[in-house]
Amino acid sequence: MPKPQTLLALNWKMNKTPSEATAWANDLKEKLHLGAAEVAIMAPAIDLQALSWFLKDTGVQLGGQDVSQHESGAYTGEISAAMLKDVGAKYAVVGHSERREYHAESSQVVAGKARAALSGGLVPVICVGEGLEVRERGEHVSYTLDQLRDSLAGITISSAAQIVVAYEPVWAIGTGRTATAADAEELCGAIRNALSGLLGEVGGGVQVLYGGSVKGGNVAEICAQPNVNGALVGGAALEVASVLEMVAELG
Ligand code: 13P
Repeated sequence: MPKPQTLLALNWKMNKTPSEATAWANDLKEKLHLGAAEVAIMAPAIDLQALSWFLKDTGVQLGGQDVSQHESGAYTGEISAAMLKDVGAKYAVVGHSERREYHAESSQVVAGKARAALSGGLVPVICVGEGLEVRERGEHVSYTLDQLRDSLAGITISSAAQIVVAYEPVWAIGTGRTATAADAEELCGAIRNALSGLLGEVGGGVQVLYGGSVKGGNVAEICAQPNVNGALVGGAALEVASVLEMVAELG
């Protein structure tokens, strides 16, 4: 199966007000020459409207960092898939380790969010990955695959072509301690095999990303691994210069 287009997904986390996002988008727009990789900004929901306006016609895609598992109604504070879609989002990150840890999101909830994203016409970027203790016990593969299976509950083969999976080992997030390209490949390959087992041929074709201290200097090597189809980037997503560096390195 040919490798899908590389996805450079920029997760801003809780950074940038709408005014800051607007200035950033204008700066990016002036300097960006998109290459082989698709670029998507996973921005705070409140920034998306401005980003969609200022980045229109650039080819840069947008995504939310979370989405409600409910379609609409009395869920104070939640953002629905339809709302994200309406402001131009293509993607919604679900099950990021920071949501799992600080908001006690179970894989069952994550699966509900992934299904809600799909029904609302968004591509869920489903995050999985082990913490340091699990890695040190040598149980990172089985832990991550269990999390993956539970986070895919109820996702049908017919909708699976529209999902992205991101492997983000918690110990590599924001720590500067990047997994090696071989570590990323080990897990992304295991994830792909599991996806094939669960979802057949469609599963084998799902885009699998790596995330955790990716930046200019390591993005190309990581994304060149046979089972890695892109990166989910936090810290290095905040400065236009470092985004341009990664885009250039991806060719
Ligand atoms: P860092 O790139 O800052 O390690 O963050 C990774 C991440 O959590 C992306 O979702």
